[in-house]
Amino acid sequence: MSRAIEISPSILPADFARLGDECIALEEAGCDRIHWDVMDGVFVPNITVGPDVVKSLRPHLSIPFEAHLMVMEADTMAPRYVDAGCSTVMVHAEACTHLHRSLANIRDLGAKSGVVLNPHTPAATIQHVLDTTDHILIMTVNPGFGGQKYLSLTDKIAEIKAMVDAGDHDIDIEIDGGISADTIGECAAAGANVFVSGSALFRYDDRAAGVTELRAKAEAARD
Ligand code: DX5
Ligand code: ZN
Repeated sequence: MSRAIEISPSILPADFARLGDECIALEEAGCDRIHWDVMDGVFVPNITVGPDVVKSLRPHLSIPFEAHLMVMEADTMAPRYVDAGCSTVMVHAEACTHLHRSLANIRDLGAKSGVVLNPHTPAATIQHVLDTTDHILIMTVNPGFGGQKYLSLTDKIAEIKAMVDAGDHDIDIEIDGGISADTIGECAAAGANVFVSGSALFRYDDRAAGVTELRAKAEAARD
């Protein structure tokens, strides 16, 4: 049984002067989650939203929040985003000296744990944390900015999918970076089921139509 296709919009392209309205519109457009791109200006050369911003949005939406922590102090910040209402908190393998413990700590806080891999980081990095993670986020851009050129990593996606299936793990595989109607299909065919889209989704005048097209392209690629 294949896992449900989910569309998780990045908040980076949103008009931050109207962030609440933008997030509500994404939910009304049929998005399955909100993807909070959290950046500390150190792990990546950009700074975005803190936990208090996420917390202020939580009561206004019903769909799950996921935090993509592009931060050096992942263990310190993870509890803040759980408290802010994120049901999934994802930390970069590259930022965690003790990744297994970092993921276990997120689960101990009552949230789903997620591990993120930069484009250069091999799939084998997560071989020994598959029992401690609920979510794998595969970067198809170098983190830090929206609107970048998509990096095709279908071999890596397929390798991770095979690792997950070999151990019969209950894990979502999500792709993040440059996802559009032109790129989502190859990622779905390789085994991913959750897709972050920022700039491509925000380019649609009719955002609901964009969500529908992205979902349809992913579904068709799996058939
Ligand atoms: C980059 C972020 C991504 C990115 C996605 O560091 O993690 O979520 O903003 O935006 P697009 O879809 O424009 O690549
Ligand atoms: Zn992201």
